[in-house]
Amino acid sequence: MDPTLATDLARLPDLLDATRHAAAENLATLHTRPVIPPATPLTPEPLPEHGSGTEATLAAFRHRWAPRLSASAGPRYLGFVTGGATPAALAGDWLTAVHDQNSNSALDGAGQDLERETVTWLRDLFGLGPAHTGTFVSGATMSNTAGLAIAREWLGERAGVSPSDDGAAALGPVRVLSGAPHSSIAKALSLLGLGRNALVAVPTLPGREAVDPAALDRALADFPGPAVVVANAGTVNTVDFDDLRAVAALKARHDFWLHTDAAFGAFAALSPEHAHLTAGLDASDSVCVDLHKWLNVPYDSAVQFTRRRDLQARVFQNAAAYLGPLGDHPDLVHLTPENSHRLRALAAWFTLRAYGRRGHREIVERDIACARAFGADLAGDQAFAVLAPVRLNVVCFTLADEPTPARLTALREAVGREVFVTPTVYRGTAALRAAFSNWRTTEADARRAAQALRTAARELV
Ligand SMILES: Cc1ncc(COP(=O)(O)O)c(C=O)c1O
Repeated sequence: MDPTLATDLARLPDLLDATRHAAAENLATLHTRPVIPPATPLTPEPLPEHGSGTEATLAAFRHRWAPRLSASAGPRYLGFVTGGATPAALAGDWLTAVHDQNSNSALDGAGQDLERETVTWLRDLFGLGPAHTGTFVSGATMSNTAGLAIAREWLGERAGVSPSDDGAAALGPVRVLSGAPHSSIAKALSLLGLGRNALVAVPTLPGREAVDPAALDRALADFPGPAVVVANAGTVNTVDFDDLRAVAALKARHDFWLHTDAAFGAFAALSPEHAHLTAGLDASDSVCVDLHKWLNVPYDSAVQFTRRRDLQARVFQNAAAYLGPLGDHPDLVHLTPENSHRLRALAAWFTLRAYGRRGHREIVERDIACARAFGADLAGDQAFAVLAPVRLNVVCFTLADEPTPARLTALREAVGREVFVTPTVYRGTAALRAAFSNWRTTEADARRAAQALRTAARELV
């Protein structure tokens, strides 16, 4: 054994303690450190010929890299839709690496059973019925991709061909209809050989990002043959929800696969006040939910549900001499885009076991309250215009005067130590979004973030 490696092995408990100490220090200062640290250039180091061991490497990381990382796990990082890691999720994630399972088949231990148990809990959490089975994937983009891959196979079933065997070309032209899809849908279509141009934009309701069901009805009638509809349960800009029941009801008149992107909107089901937004989710043929967003497990984790596990297995089956047959309960290796994968479910299992439905409902409701407080503070300030009602956990806003991309960038940069928000364009207007999805965020954080923006707006030229 390499001598440095042997020394590390002998000192493993001490090294884990040192790492724990560094982690605790980092987390203790998460809410006081700059949310986005100032950019300072760093000269890349060459690959070392001889390593310096874990202790020296930990010191180097803490010196060179840690101060340059954002406080994205903290309470005022409001960019994209970003969760942190609850204490239990963090513990589960650490143990994922400790056990280092490749939990994809019955040849191994019970890892895939743990994943199945966790998926069942998640299915309950989001109000999906027993017809849905699910698997863990790396994020909502991959969940959307897997859902649309199953949709592609369903189109093949309708046409009497198998795209997974014969390629996407066997299908002929494909139409994927959606009101305001997330950008990852186009990426998925590119990856799946269906092409970004397969996406057909369906008009949304006036002043909304939710699809107009009557327009969708017409668009489906215009296209002969089976189609794919992507419903959106929580758009990124304004968290608008398609009327999922109305969309699903169109199945009585048209033949289509219904995929719902509920990456973070599915969590509305946890709040009795907002659960109606997800009514009808169960009728979807496939559903995407991200877990590294509002479940607050570390990256990278999402779940993908479907009613057609048989088609999923046709797409993702991995025939190899050493793997078991598909059977009625296929091993996960036959259901997921990856073959090998980490025991990704463990962090989700930990946080669901530790805090239960109630604990996660509290996080969701507190984040919604924070979004409302933040939105109200900006709406009460003449320097800002809030561009849409705060439906859930995102506030979409801009400067009342001259909302140019340059001024918004200047505003974002001016507040970067205090709060991080991301740029967007909403209805042709350059804007900003603040998304509340972290388990640590309090109303005081929301008000502090709003105050930072209000002060900076006064100082803008
Ligand atoms: C609605 C929606 N779908 C998909 C995604 C893609 O998620 P990820 O970056 O985890 O792949 C996002 C990310 O913000 C999202 O909001």
